[in-house]
Amino acid sequence: MSTILVTGATGNVGSRVVADLVAAGVRPRVLIRDTARPVNPWLDDDCVEVAFGDFDDVSSVDAAMSGTDRVFLTSADGPDKVAHESAVIAAAQRTGVERIVKLSAMHARIGSPLPAFDWHGRIELELADSGVPHVLLRPAFFLDNLLMVAPGVAATGHLAAPTAGARAAMIDVRDVAASAAGALMSNRDLRAGYSLTGPESVTFAEVADALGIATGRSVVFDDLTPEEAAPRFAGAGLPPWLAAQLSGAFGVIRDGGFDAVYDGVSELTGRPAHDISSWVHMHAPAFAEPATATTAARQT
Ligand SMILES: NC(=O)c1ccc[n+]([C@@H]2O[C@H](COP(=O)([O-])OP(=O)(O)OC[C@H]3O[C@@H](n4cnc5c(N)ncnc54)[C@H](OP(=O)(O)O)[C@@H]3O)[C@@H](O)[C@H]2O)c1
Repeated sequence: MSTILVTGATGNVGSRVVADLVAAGVRPRVLIRDTARPVNPWLDDDCVEVAFGDFDDVSSVDAAMSGTDRVFLTSADGPDKVAHESAVIAAAQRTGVERIVKLSAMHARIGSPLPAFDWHGRIELELADSGVPHVLLRPAFFLDNLLMVAPGVAATGHLAAPTAGARAAMIDVRDVAASAAGALMSNRDLRAGYSLTGPESVTFAEVADALGIATGRSVVFDDLTPEEAAPRFAGAGLPPWLAAQLSGAFGVIRDGGFDAVYDGVSELTGRPAHDISSWVHMHAPAFAEPATATTAARQT
């Protein structure tokens, strides 16, 4: 059986990739930099092989890569992203890895004004130049991004974003991870890249309605103009690159750039992607009125 190394194994996507591999009977090797932090608190330690290491420490990445056949490549977004993922690609090239499954992004492109899309474009080029066989996963806007505004929705009953009424086929992180696990385990010839989306393209007004149904309260959608939204992004205390990324992502949504639905999730997992109602039901407590959430917590 192949040895699969999961990078970013404590992250939103990577931790779910680990869980999906374990559920499928695979014992992945996981690259972890913090010896005190569990990978997946719900997993038994024996389910994974831990390789302690840091993208900034080449010898630790080399050691983790030794004997590895397939790699899930992801890292935190930020100014070090290209250097971090390049270090993994270089180690994979040295050790003869047979497949890298890289978590990229729809609209990844060198020179994109959205910082993360530019970084992903650079890493994709690095992969192409490396000669290491690879599969690119290019997800649309994550539904899970909505969790950033969940406390505000819970407190006010309003969801606000600059969308100009556009639709987006947002994707559940569970489906991104399951697609990655599928690509890592598959023994078929895979395509060079897969666009990953949810099963339907929805407006944010429809998301607000779905949140209202799931939480049993009214959730109103305020469709802001880009001018109204700009100070909110700038004043949210985010690093400038993240404010630019989020603001730019809503520009892509307004331009219809996330409207198309693709079947990458079902191709890689053999089942349909989760729809919006599945996502909102899972996350309803985060959006519920505080009193409701407290009552629900007391009842469990
Ligand atoms: N949000 C969207 O709408 C969207 C859409 C398309 C694509 N994407 C892409 O999806 C990815 C986000 O994935 P995610 O949410 O899973 O990221 P995440 O939760 O931020 O996870 C980042 C992982 O990288 C690890 N890491 C960071 N620095 C490291 C280092 N120096 N050495 C070793 N490991 C290190 C972190 O470990 P620690 O736990 O130790 O910090 C963590 O496991 C990004 O590439 C993003 O561009 C996002």
